[in-house]
Amino acid sequence: MHEPGRIRSSEITPVEVYTSRRTVLGCIGGALALGMGGALAGSRPVHAASRAAIGTYLPMSVPPLDSITPREYATRYNNFYEFGNDKSAPSEYGHALKTDPWSVEISGEVHKPGRYTLEDILKPHDLEERIYRLRCVEAWSMVIPWIGFPLGDLIRRFEPTGAAKYVEFKTLYRPREFRGQRALFSSIDWPYVEGLRLDEAYHPLTILAVGMYGEALPNQNGAPLRLVVPWKYGFKSIKSIVEIRLTRKRPRTTWETSNPREYGFYANVNPAVDHPRWSQKEERRLPSPLFSPNFIETQPFNGYGDLVAGLYAGMDLARNF
Ligand code: MTE
Repeated sequence: MHEPGRIRSSEITPVEVYTSRRTVLGCIGGALALGMGGALAGSRPVHAASRAAIGTYLPMSVPPLDSITPREYATRYNNFYEFGNDKSAPSEYGHALKTDPWSVEISGEVHKPGRYTLEDILKPHDLEERIYRLRCVEAWSMVIPWIGFPLGDLIRRFEPTGAAKYVEFKTLYRPREFRGQRALFSSIDWPYVEGLRLDEAYHPLTILAVGMYGEALPNQNGAPLRLVVPWKYGFKSIKSIVEIRLTRKRPRTTWETSNPREYGFYANVNPAVDHPRWSQKEERRLPSPLFSPNFIETQPFNGYGDLVAGLYAGMDLARNF
């Protein structure tokens, strides 16, 4: 990954743990869906199932403690190496990705494996808005209002066996649509792979997102289905998922495989453990103008420690970075 700009002394923003949870269905949602029709119609083509599901959610009215990053930053400053290495490549070339039809294969240590359409995947789940910080390992961050549902609720439906210990995720491999997968030289061995320990996957903060900012996910943000794990560096939040595999062994993830000295399996946000090439003590909270950068202190577990630190009790987080 690219080296971030040099970190300078910071202003300190007080940050408390928050999550926003809204599940609103029925007639209010229906009325709202009509109101949102214009916004949806004006966005990129989205999978019909995402569009239908998004219609049932209500935007939250209570402002969060950290202010939400303007949508244009979250949708134009992206990491999605399948489209290229530049931050602007995903929004520039994202239209090439075809997300309808879409299916997800559920395999490995489950009693109900199979290939499920996106419609089948989404059908039983109520969508919620969750406003989360996203802290990239490159030391920039945003605050994004996602729309999704808990990953654990999905995993339970496929009945993991007693042997399941980890969950592996894969992104679509389709070089015809992902120009980055056609590149002759790439530091990534496609497809992009990520993984979680099963208890991390079941943690209620861990969601699968289908939308953001009240609309279906734009392709550059991982349409039609992506992971969001807010206490870990952004690279864990794998986009455009086509495979979810329950495993006995720890999956070999993309960044750990490409550079194990710099990127670990756990990737918990941790200001006490620097990246070998830069500090992780601070982050540039976007928008962050070049000549007056908006540095803030990085929080352990990205500020969600009260809710997740227990998952790592007794573990040496400097070794298991
Ligand atoms: N998923 C895939 N398939 N490919 C990628 O290159 N980049 C990761 C993650 N998920 C990436 C991915 C990184 S490094 C980050 S910081 C986040 O996506 C960025 O998500 P955003 O573009 O929605 O902000």
